[in-house]
Amino acid sequence: MSKENELKEILDAAKEKIKDAIDDASLNELRSFYTGKKSPLTEILKTLATASIEEKKIIGSLANETKQKIEAFLQERRLELQNAIIEKKLRSEKIDVTLPSKKIKVGSIHPLTKTIEEVEDIFIGMGYTIAEGPEVETDLYNFEMLNVPKGHPARDMQDSFYITENLLLRTQTSPMQVRTMLKLKGEPVKILAPGKTYRRDDDDATHSHQFMQFEGLVVDKNITMSDLKGTLNLFVQKMFGDSLKVRFKPSYFPFTEPSVEVDVSCFKCGGVGCNMCKQSGWIEILGAGMVHPNVLKGAGYDPEVYQGFAFGIGIERAAMLRHGIDDIRNFYLNDDRLLNQFKGEN
Ligand code: DAH
Repeated sequence: MSKENELKEILDAAKEKIKDAIDDASLNELRSFYTGKKSPLTEILKTLATASIEEKKIIGSLANETKQKIEAFLQERRLELQNAIIEKKLRSEKIDVTLPSKKIKVGSIHPLTKTIEEVEDIFIGMGYTIAEGPEVETDLYNFEMLNVPKGHPARDMQDSFYITENLLLRTQTSPMQVRTMLKLKGEPVKILAPGKTYRRDDDDATHSHQFMQFEGLVVDKNITMSDLKGTLNLFVQKMFGDSLKVRFKPSYFPFTEPSVEVDVSCFKCGGVGCNMCKQSGWIEILGAGMVHPNVLKGAGYDPEVYQGFAFGIGIERAAMLRHGIDDIRNFYLNDDRLLNQFKGEN
C-alpha cells in the first residue's frame, strides 16, 4: 500500500474512533495511539529518513496534515463532550418557575409581648426607664422590705412557691421597687419593671400559677397623689382609648399608703353594665398608691424628704381587656387560631 493510502487509512480510522470516544480519558488514549511516539503515523515519518527528497516533501507534509486533522478531530470531540456535560447539568438543574412555592409559616408577635411593648412605649414616652430583675427572689425583697414581715396576714393573698426558707419565685414585681432604690442609693427613681411572677393558684379562666406584671415606681421630692392620678389617667387613655373614664377607689396594699385600686369604665358596655363588668359598669385594672414610709426608709430614702408613687398592672389582664380574650390560659396554649389573629398587627 502506498504511504498516501496508509495515511488516509490512519486518518479515517482515527476519525471513526474519535467520533465514538465517550470521555476525556478515551480521547487521551486515542491521541497517544494515533499521534504518539509509537503510532503508525510516527512509524511512517521514521521511514522518511531514507526516502528521496521528493517523497520526504510530499509524504512529510501529508503526514503533518494528517496529524493536524487528527488533533482537530480530537479537539472537536472534546468540545462536544464538554458541551454534552453542560447540557445534561443544565437540564437536571432546570427550575420550573411556574411551580407553586412551598408555604412557609410566618410567626407573629405574641399578644403578651405586644402588650408589653405597648405599655413600655407609653411609659418610656413619659421618661421612664425599663428595669428587670430576677424571678427567683429573696423573701426579704419580695415581702419584708415591702412592709410585709413574716406572719403578716397580707402574705396569705399571695400563696408562694418557696425554694428555701428565704428564697421563692417572686409573687409580684414589687421587689423591683426595693432593688432599684437600693441600687440608686437616694437618687430619684422613675422605672417600669415588667416580668414574670408566680403564685400557687389553681389555673382557671382568670388565674394562672405564672403570669406577668408591670411594676411602676417614681420617687423624688414633692411627689403627690395627683402625680399618680395624672400618670395613670394618661396611661389608661393611651392604652385603652380616650373615651374611657377612670376611677380611683380606696384600697389596701402593705407597701403603699394611701393605696388605691384603679377602675376603668367597661370596654364592652361603656359603663351601662354587662357580663364582662359583672353589671357594675367598671373594670378593675391595677393597684397603686403612695410608697409607704417604711419602704422608703428601709431602702435608704428619708420619707421626710422623698415621696413616691407605685403601681402594679397585670399584663395578661391588660391584654385580655384590650383584645377581648376571655380565658388567661389562651396565652399559654400557643394555639395558631389565637396567635394568627395578631399577625400583621405589628
Ligand atoms: N404587687 C401588687 C400585687 O401583685 C400590685 C401592686 C399594688 C403594686 C399596688 C404596686 C402597688 O406597686 O402600689 O397584687
